[in-house]
Amino acid sequence: MSTTKTAAIVLAAGMGTRMQSDLPKVMHPLAGRPMVLLLLDSLAAVDPDRVIVVLGPDMDELVAALDTAAPHVETVEQTERLGTGHAVMQAKAALGDFDGDVLILYGDSPLITSGTMSEVLALRRSSEDPAVVVLGFRSEEPNVYGRLILNEDGGLDRIVEAKDTNKEELMSGFCNSGVMAVDGSKLFGLIDRLSDNNAKSEYYLTDVVGLARGDGDTCVVVEGVEDELMGINSQFELAVAERLLQDRLRVQAMENGATLQDPASVYFSWDTAIGQDAQIGPNVFFGTGVSIGDKVVIRAFCHIEGATVANGAIIGPFARLRPGAKIGVEAHIGNFVEIKNATIANGAKANHLSYIGDATVGAKANIGAGTITCNYDGYVKSRTEIGAGAFIGSNTALVAPVKVGDGAVTGAGSTITKDVETDALAVTRAPQKLIDGYGARQRVTKGKSWGKK
Ligand code: UD1
Ligand code: MG
Repeated sequence: MSTTKTAAIVLAAGMGTRMQSDLPKVMHPLAGRPMVLLLLDSLAAVDPDRVIVVLGPDMDELVAALDTAAPHVETVEQTERLGTGHAVMQAKAALGDFDGDVLILYGDSPLITSGTMSEVLALRRSSEDPAVVVLGFRSEEPNVYGRLILNEDGGLDRIVEAKDTNKEELMSGFCNSGVMAVDGSKLFGLIDRLSDNNAKSEYYLTDVVGLARGDGDTCVVVEGVEDELMGINSQFELAVAERLLQDRLRVQAMENGATLQDPASVYFSWDTAIGQDAQIGPNVFFGTGVSIGDKVVIRAFCHIEGATVANGAIIGPFARLRPGAKIGVEAHIGNFVEIKNATIANGAKANHLSYIGDATVGAKANIGAGTITCNYDGYVKSRTEIGAGAFIGSNTALVAPVKVGDGAVTGAGSTITKDVETDALAVTRAPQKLIDGYGARQRVTKGKSWGKK
């Protein structure tokens, strides 16, 4: 293990004009998590001593997200966006005379893994002692990426931004990912000498390579893969990155022992936890905060977010579990059933066409088709409590706050407004009337038949 200290600088001050959005670019989510936080998650795994995020003015969403999800990071503000080199410059005061290695990451390239970050740092610490290590990748469509220009020995000579390339350089498919590790004792000496004499009139971080070479220092390239290193500058690229991340999450779920019948149609969030031998049908969506136990079956077309499903439960097809849904062991939640902020205890069943919100349902209770918890009166939300083994007849409206005791029964079509005692039956429907011969008389007086001749 190296004893060299590591500081990371994450560039996140750009608004991302090409996104055509009010939201700062790095706050756009992938798999339900702002991209900059995904990057910081991976960074945490290499255990840097310092993390400095460079952000722009008026980025309240970003500040709030960092406060909650990454309170260990320090932030510095870049008031004017004068380029990536200028952004790094903003960290100079914070880093003082830090002389370890500085890993620079771009907040709009969040798919990089911690393994790749470690590789870059390891090369920086190799006996060659390069001043700068740049992470590059080959692309079939290099478009706007900066190009890495190698010297005869295979070392890195310079980085040329797409807009500043000549024809030959533009043909190169060897791209700059933006990620670099720099000898901390040299970094700001290089940054101080950047100029904005280029096509965009910006201070390019990429120019540190040419400057270091001019000082007689070595610069080297580590080659990574585009799937980890693509930059996100537009809504289209955001969608491409989402697909790449989804693929990763699908593989991860399968590696952990889940069966995915049609992986490409299952959408995960960054934090979805799926147990072993879970079976996930096609077209299932997992929002954030979902934990699925072992041997759970999730049938096709379910939408699940902020919910916990215990071992052996069966969900769907076409079920919706909203935040706060807690489904017990071997419980069944069937088609067109919506559960919100409700605990469904072990073995309970709600199999058809129901809304269960702000409720507790006891073990092995049976919720009949069409049952609705009327939890909202337009002013406040109230709770419904259904006891263990209770049997709620089809089409029961439970007007909360209300309790149905253990083993109690409600008659089909009842509107329950008062508590039901343990083991009692509550029925509220109007008694059925029987009028003999009514149908026949109607046919005579109206002179028409609706079926019977
Ligand atoms: C940059 C690189 C390019 C590389 C590409 C990889 C430079 C000059 N160019 O281009 O070589 O191939 O990334 O994706 O570095 N930022 C700031 N302040 C600024 C400008 C940018 O913090 O003043 C941040 C942005 O928020 C973003 C990152 O730096 O997270 C990169 O900026 P961006 O404008 O996306 O650079 P690219 O044009 O993609
Ligand atoms: Mg970019």
